[in-house]
Amino acid sequence: MLTNLQQQPADALLALIKLHNQDPRADKIDLGVGVYRTGQGDTPVFGAVKEAEKRLVATQTSKAYLGPEGDMGFVEALMPYVFGKANPTMDGRIEGMQTPGGTGSLRLALAIVRKAQVAKVWMGVPSWPNHAQICADLGLAMQTFDHDDADGSANMDALRTAITEADEGDCFLLHGCCHNPTGIDYSNEEWDEIASLIAGKKLLPLLDLAYQGLGAGMEEDAYGVRKVLASVPEAIIAYSCDKNFGLYRDRTGALYVMMAEAAQLPLAMSNGHALARANWSQPPDHGAAAARIVMEDAALTAQWLGELDMMRDRMRQVRERLAAAGKVGGVDLTPIGKQRGLFSIIPFTPEQVQAMRAKHGIYFAGSGRINIAGLTMGNIDQFIAAVADVTG
Ligand code: LMR
Repeated sequence: MLTNLQQQPADALLALIKLHNQDPRADKIDLGVGVYRTGQGDTPVFGAVKEAEKRLVATQTSKAYLGPEGDMGFVEALMPYVFGKANPTMDGRIEGMQTPGGTGSLRLALAIVRKAQVAKVWMGVPSWPNHAQICADLGLAMQTFDHDDADGSANMDALRTAITEADEGDCFLLHGCCHNPTGIDYSNEEWDEIASLIAGKKLLPLLDLAYQGLGAGMEEDAYGVRKVLASVPEAIIAYSCDKNFGLYRDRTGALYVMMAEAAQLPLAMSNGHALARANWSQPPDHGAAAARIVMEDAALTAQWLGELDMMRDRMRQVRERLAAAGKVGGVDLTPIGKQRGLFSIIPFTPEQVQAMRAKHGIYFAGSGRINIAGLTMGNIDQFIAAVADVTG
């Protein structure tokens, strides 16, 4: 029976890890999957997380099940960072649950959207490829609009038109910060407008926040999410700790739901719990427990936020260095300087992407998305020279 299956392509982004590993050249560069790298090219465990893990191992007395909601101490400790210290539950209208990474959270969020019989999911493209993959797997109808303009800024006209064309009750998927794959974020003024347009049209916002702290700062990066939540009765937030706690393979994330009234939360969360049970039963504990220990301890929290500051500063330096190169061969690197987070897109043709791999040993997504953190002061000139060579 199983030969009835149809062959599936390997995930293009994850396949890059293997392609890069197989390349024997010593000076190869990996700008593929989104992991942070230091100036030495490593992806170390955060110092604060390492210390939290030691304490976890020393004090944990049981690994008995916690339930589909996972570690609620973790879920609640994260809320002031996401929703603001002043009113982290929005008067008791927000509740959350732990999920296996941001993908687990998006899967639950979109499964809830489907169960709620939402007709369509709108998203700006390009988007993170897994957004569309999850929608397609769930059989959700999708509508797309252009996220970016040719000049490397957000295409607000396309977004306004999309909101005009959307039907009341449609889901509108937005990247909270550090847009993946373009690095093109909305300004605060643009978020103000988006929040009021979404509220006016009675859309259901789904906010994907996977890079908080990697853009302009933990508080700054939450502006859009908080603005939208302050304007609408209901929203879903998919959160990932993969990047801002460096917990990637420990699969640490959370799903939050905001309802119009606190009394409606059990309805929403019962669906989240039931869907989790049917998918993975319960999320993996280790990463969430370590992140909770960090957030519960003032000294570890300060260490964690300091580590995040360092990551952000390093990526800012790389962006400035690329932008300063200006026009390189046939492409303009200047817009990269004003973009944010781990990613930017360089408009390579498919042939140029292949030439960067084959001739120069430089690996990045077929869309032309580069991981800014894969560049260091040691390899950035080599990268710029290769861009000049293949696009010139
Ligand atoms: C990425 O876009 O590279 C990351 O979010 C990792 C992933 O799971 O795709």
